[in-house]
Amino acid sequence: MSELFDLTNNVAIVTGASRGLGQYFALALAKAGADLVLTSRNSTDIEPFAQEIKSLGRKVITVDLDVENLQSIENMVSQAVSVFPKIDILINNAGCNIRKPAVEVSWSDWNSVVNTNLRGSFFVAQKVAEHMLKKQYGRIINIGSVTSVSGFAGLAPYCASRGGIKQLTMSLADEWGKSGITVNCLAPGWFETAQNKVLYENKQWLDYICDRIPIGRPGRPHDLDGAVVFLASKSSEYITGQTLLIDGGVSTGATKATV
Ligand SMILES: NC(=O)c1ccc[n+]([C@@H]2O[C@H](COP(=O)([O-])OP(=O)(O)OC[C@H]3O[C@@H](n4cnc5c(N)ncnc54)[C@H](OP(=O)(O)O)[C@@H]3O)[C@@H](O)[C@H]2O)c1
Repeated sequence: MSELFDLTNNVAIVTGASRGLGQYFALALAKAGADLVLTSRNSTDIEPFAQEIKSLGRKVITVDLDVENLQSIENMVSQAVSVFPKIDILINNAGCNIRKPAVEVSWSDWNSVVNTNLRGSFFVAQKVAEHMLKKQYGRIINIGSVTSVSGFAGLAPYCASRGGIKQLTMSLADEWGKSGITVNCLAPGWFETAQNKVLYENKQWLDYICDRIPIGRPGRPHDLDGAVVFLASKSSEYITGQTLLIDGGVSTGATKATV
C-alpha cells in the first residue's frame, strides 16, 4: 500500500456494517490498515464479520447503533472513544429505502426514510465531530447516491434524503474545514444488495438499467474500494464538500439522442 493511502493507526467508524455496502467499505478500510468500529442495530449480528476483519490483524469493536435514536448515537460514540484514543474516519453509511409511487407514500414512510438517512447522518457526524475537533483531524464520508444528483420515479423520500446529504456535506465541509476535518459525499450508483435485491431478480429491469449505465453493468463491491480509501486518507487533504459519484456513468443522464 502506498504511503499516500496507508490508513495504519487510523480508527474508522462504519455505520450500518451488518451487510451490503457497509461491509465493502469496512473491508477496504481494514485492508488499507484501519482499525474499526462496526455498528448495527443488533451488534451480535456482525460478530462473524468482525472476526473476518480481526483476522487481517486489525482491532475491531462492534457496537449497537440505531440512528433514529439520539441516545443510541451518543452511546455508540462514547463506546468508541472509551476503547480507541481517537476517531479519524467516519463512514456515515446506515440507511434505508422504501420504493413506492409518490401518491402512496405515507407520513411514516417519509419519516422513516428521511429521519434514518438524513437526520441520522447529521447527528452521527455531529457527535463524532466533537471528538475530531479536539484532535483537529477527521475524514467524514457521507454515503449519498446517484439519487443525490438526479430524480428517480418511485424514490421520492429517498431522493430527497440523498439530495439533502449532498447539501449537508457542503455545509459541514464549510464549517469544519479550518479545523482539519474534511467532509465529502461518496455517491454509489446501482449496486445489488439486500436493499434492492428484488429489482435485480427482474431480468427486464436489469436489462433496462444496464442499458442506462455507460459502463454497461451494475457496480461490484470492489468498485467502491479505491474511492473510500482515497477519501479516508491523508491524500485527499485538499478535497472537501465534494460529491464523488461511483456509478458507471449513469449520472451523466445516459439518455440516447440517436436511433
Ligand atoms: N445498494 C445501492 O445500490 C446503494 C446505492 C447508493 C447508496 N446506497 C446507500 O448505501 C447505504 C448502504 O446500502 P446497502 O445497499 O448496503 O443497504 P442495506 O443492505 O439495506 O444495509 C443497510 C445498513 O444500514 C443499517 N441500518 C438501517 N437502518 C438503520 C438504523 N435506523 N440505524 C442504524 N443502522 C441502520 C442496517 O443495519 P441493521 O439492519 O443491522 O441495523 C444495514 O447494515 C445505504 O445508506 C443506502 O441507501 C446504496
